[in-house]
Amino acid sequence: MPRFPDGFLWGAATAAYQVEGGNAGSTFAAWEKVRGWEPCGLAADSWRRWPEDIRCLRELGLGAYRFSVEWSRVEPRPGEYDEAALARYREQVRALAEAGIRPMVCLHHFSEPAWLYELEPSGWTSPRCAGYFLRFVERVLAAFQGEVRDWLTFNEPMVWLLLGYGLGHFPPGLRSLFSLERVLGENGPQGTVLRAHEEAYRLIHRAVPAARVSVAQNIVDLRPASGDPADARAVRDLDLLMHGRFLDRAHAAKTLDFIGVNYYTGIFVRAARLPLFPAGALPGYAELERALGPRLFRLLGGRRGEAPRSDMGWEVVPEGLGRVVRRVWAAYGLPIFITENGVADGTGELRAAFLQDHLAALRGEIERGARVLGYLHWSLLDNYEWGSFRPRFGLYSVDRAGDFARRPAPGARAYADIVRENEGGL
Ligand code: FCB
Repeated sequence: MPRFPDGFLWGAATAAYQVEGGNAGSTFAAWEKVRGWEPCGLAADSWRRWPEDIRCLRELGLGAYRFSVEWSRVEPRPGEYDEAALARYREQVRALAEAGIRPMVCLHHFSEPAWLYELEPSGWTSPRCAGYFLRFVERVLAAFQGEVRDWLTFNEPMVWLLLGYGLGHFPPGLRSLFSLERVLGENGPQGTVLRAHEEAYRLIHRAVPAARVSVAQNIVDLRPASGDPADARAVRDLDLLMHGRFLDRAHAAKTLDFIGVNYYTGIFVRAARLPLFPAGALPGYAELERALGPRLFRLLGGRRGEAPRSDMGWEVVPEGLGRVVRRVWAAYGLPIFITENGVADGTGELRAAFLQDHLAALRGEIERGARVLGYLHWSLLDNYEWGSFRPRFGLYSVDRAGDFARRPAPGARAYADIVRENEGGL
């Protein structure tokens, strides 16, 4: 594979709730009981074992680590901050720096304090949620004392709002099946989230003038299910609803220093025959096929592709990463950071080729002129995939039944080789 440019950052990503363990004050801890999900419990026990995680990063030769700060841990009760928890995060930031690993901190990765919804039952529909969030952001900034330069305000705001405020699958479990467009539009909670992002951007830059700030936007490679122009229109409208509008508005407000892209898969999109689906699009998400059942899904015109599928049922579409990067670069002209990309691969047969093929597609776009700052693999460790430990995204497995030992998973070696081949850059 041709080499990546000088200074390109190679790394891995996790999120607090998925790896730390012991986050009993999170909305998800309560939600697991309501939904009968497998409990997250100690997760990968990274709250205590984070030095081992840094050893894993070093073993792979990585130079960047994306993690998140758990709001419910830092602010266990409204207005009460746990200084010891903040000090522990600061210690981790310093240890990363000493190991030559650049931290990227995400301030909101799905999990929130349960008290937030006791105070605000309609959640982010109320502008007060933005106020609570920004107060937390200020505390984190004070604790990190200017030592973190790379920031994400929100992880996948559109996915989170769709699942939590539209489909009722995530906390707070609000369901608005017949008004998804409103939920995802700027007059719904998205508007409050966007304002919180913009204000957080300003706070971060005030505290860290050299900061680089963005959101991590989940972007799916959308392709029309047929040559019918109606399908092409459905692609365009769904792309705007799920990907474009939030970024467009944040970009117009000059609150993106780069674009964080989480890329996992590609789907086919059909113009919906029934007016049930937002943006008039019937998207070929694996989850929708599962929810409707394959027969009804097909009857409605749904189409899945032929590519191999991961354990999530997501198709492996490496060239889709190239197409997404091309579109984002053309639309914004801002540097791009791949903030997540990975594969649930229990047998270990997919990951090495997944990495090689996705990175080849990414390299191709860099050659065509896109500016890409780095690549963060999801995930460093096997972790809690929002309801279950079964999907295995980790470069390292975690012996959860025993001593939580971290062991390289298939594909970890392939990643380390790619990173080593690129040492020193072009
Ligand atoms: C993304 C999430 C991340 C993880 C991966 C598989 O949507 O940001 O937490 O669950 O998917």
